[in-house]
Amino acid sequence: MVRAAVLPAVGAPLEIAEIDLPAPGPGQVRVRLAAAGVCHSDLSLSDGTMRVPVPAVLGHEGAGTVVSVGEGVTGVAPGDGVVLNWAPSCGSCHACSLGEVWLCANALTGAGDVYARRASDGSDLHPGLNVAAFAEETVVAAGCVLPVPDGIPLTDAALLGCAVLTGYGAVHHSARVRAGETVAVFGVGGVGLAALQAARIAGASQIIAVDISPEKESLAREAGATDYVVASDTTAREIRSLTGKQGVDVAVECVGRAVTIRAAWDSTRRGGRTTVVGIGGKDQQVTFNALEIFHWGRTLSGCVYGNSDPARDLPVLAEHVRAGRLDLGTLVTERIGLDGIAGAFENMVAGKGGRALVVF
Ligand code: APR
Ligand code: ZN
Ligand code: ZN
Repeated sequence: MVRAAVLPAVGAPLEIAEIDLPAPGPGQVRVRLAAAGVCHSDLSLSDGTMRVPVPAVLGHEGAGTVVSVGEGVTGVAPGDGVVLNWAPSCGSCHACSLGEVWLCANALTGAGDVYARRASDGSDLHPGLNVAAFAEETVVAAGCVLPVPDGIPLTDAALLGCAVLTGYGAVHHSARVRAGETVAVFGVGGVGLAALQAARIAGASQIIAVDISPEKESLAREAGATDYVVASDTTAREIRSLTGKQGVDVAVECVGRAVTIRAAWDSTRRGGRTTVVGIGGKDQQVTFNALEIFHWGRTLSGCVYGNSDPARDLPVLAEHVRAGRLDLGTLVTERIGLDGIAGAFENMVAGKGGRALVVF
């Protein structure tokens, strides 16, 4: 039996409960979590913005130690440190055959999957985003674990699993920021902070952070922002004036709202690129007129998991950490227990802090 934060129903508060985990089956790995970051996608799954079968154990940004492995697992052994990868790839679908593993058609487990049971009544529990990291231990498919790169403490490694792969990847793989370009990052949460650091690593000449909360300025500047704009209905105009009336080369949207997607697009120069990392609901409709699409010659793209291949990219991120270019510690503004996740969700809604990290 281990403790977990269970989402009993969409929209309901999380409950701390004892759960029974099975021994890992063929191709599965049991992991003892060291830490798990609280990502906005967990909030979106719990409030119904994104769908998840319930009752569920959420949490998809984690790292820990392998406890045991099931039949046929060869890549990791008990005692190994691993980062959880919430988007395992099958290697054989069309996307995987093109190397776009983040779009793997078979990445998400089916809605009927049950991975554990509540100890109190034996009822089914589903793993939110495959890995169910809001628990002392989890059982995942072997494709959901990757070795922790050398020299990265497990608690820091957790952040690599979502915020950093996503924010860094948005900048380097999706927008492909080049040295000397100007970048605006909308949303200074864990993902936006990683995107800001990634823009600095890419050698961006000007990095403008945008957030609705004025409180995020110091965090943003610490992550590399050269300018800070408190979001309003004149955000795009302010960004244009900060860039010699031109607009930025690249905008990275890390909020997931129609208004910020539209403002990000409006803040780019002619020919600029906007990458949308944020995940919004179906109610968030963005409109463009045909003439402006022609006139501005801009690109707007979606971005899943930062268009990252975790197996390829984790060693690259680790190298940035070891060289002092990427600071994982500054993403974390709060360390909590499992019972602190509800408060972390509240802080997210209120626009307070960076990442909250559940430390086990
Ligand atoms: N304009 C600018 N910033 C905004 C706005 C807005 N209208 N609304 C909210 N924000 C800011 C919040 O103040 C917060 O700082 O966006 C930030 C979002 O940060 P988090 O809630 O910590 O979210 P994070 O975990 O970083 O995820 C960002 O990426 O993966 C997706 O689902 C995730 O959509 C989410 C996004
Ligand atoms: Zn996430
Ligand atoms: Zn695939």
